[in-house]
Amino acid sequence: EDALTRIRNIEMVELGRFRMVPWYFSPYPVELTRLPAIYLCEFCLKFLKSATCLRRHLEKCRIKHPPGNEIYRNDNLSFFEVDGRRNKFYAQNLCLLAKLFLDHKTLYYDTDPFLFYVMAEKDDRGFHIVGYFSKEKESADEYNVACILVLPPYQKKGYGRLLIEFSYELSKREGKTGSPEKPLSDLGLLSYRSFWSATIIEKLIEYKTTWQGNGQERPMLSVVDLSTMTSIRKEDVISTLQQLNLYKYYHGQYVIVITDEIKHVYEKMQRKIKVRIDPRRLQWTPRD
Ligand code: COA
Ligand code: NA
Repeated sequence: EDALTRIRNIEMVELGRFRMVPWYFSPYPVELTRLPAIYLCEFCLKFLKSATCLRRHLEKCRIKHPPGNEIYRNDNLSFFEVDGRRNKFYAQNLCLLAKLFLDHKTLYYDTDPFLFYVMAEKDDRGFHIVGYFSKEKESADEYNVACILVLPPYQKKGYGRLLIEFSYELSKREGKTGSPEKPLSDLGLLSYRSFWSATIIEKLIEYKTTWQGNGQERPMLSVVDLSTMTSIRKEDVISTLQQLNLYKYYHGQYVIVITDEIKHVYEKMQRKIKVRIDPRRLQWTPRD
């Protein structure tokens, strides 16, 4: 791809109460690229060339939340399922916004094959977009996430973890395992590794037992059990166990072990993870 087309082309984006400096190129119309800032409606994501245009737009724009169905709400956190075919305007605007922070070579102009799961925080003014992930309606490779983004003002606060957790809750409802589309960005990989480790360690501790004979603690779980319970694909379970040094070749076979170190990691983790997805609040059934 032409290196020039990858150069950051938008100076600044205003979205709701935030101003954000883009990280990467995004194919907004060329007449917007010379401006000191572009202005987005924080509800429909329409882009405008000035604060005045945005003000005029806001007088007409009646929506106060992402389009589509609200499929999850817990306190002030909601998820909306947006169909890329039925809500093309929103989906395309979301992709344009997301591309500012995603270093992908491809942008999906054709949003029809995708669903977008938009996470939003509610206050008395409406539902404010925090981040989203997209998912192919049909994935031959059993990917359960295509793109994932937390908007910069919300990053490093645990929202990425919530998006990832939500994506696996959908997979659980589908009775499938899934994995994010590759390649992942550095930040994406960090976030997935952290989620996989936390999820797997939690199951290992929950199912631990003391082995008769040598007094060693081991989980009563296999890789397949872990994968089925969490919807994390088998390969990702194995690589996580290996990374945590919990997968040992022992007397001619692989066994999963529990170490004292991992118990400490578990305790630290339990203190740190404050907000979680509550599966009982997910009002959603997979389509056929
Ligand atoms: N530096 C170091 N660690 C980071 C990090 C950073 N900048 N950002 C996230 N992490 C780690 C966190 O420490 C945490 O791990 P821990 O709990 O073990 O400490 C884990 O990643 C998740 O953190 P969280 O706060 O939930 O992540 P986030 O809300 O910032 O969202 C992304 C993570 C990837 C969604 C976000 O960085 C993003 O949108 N990036 C740009 C788009 C992108 O790269 N998407 C993936 C492409 S496929
Ligand atoms: Na999954």
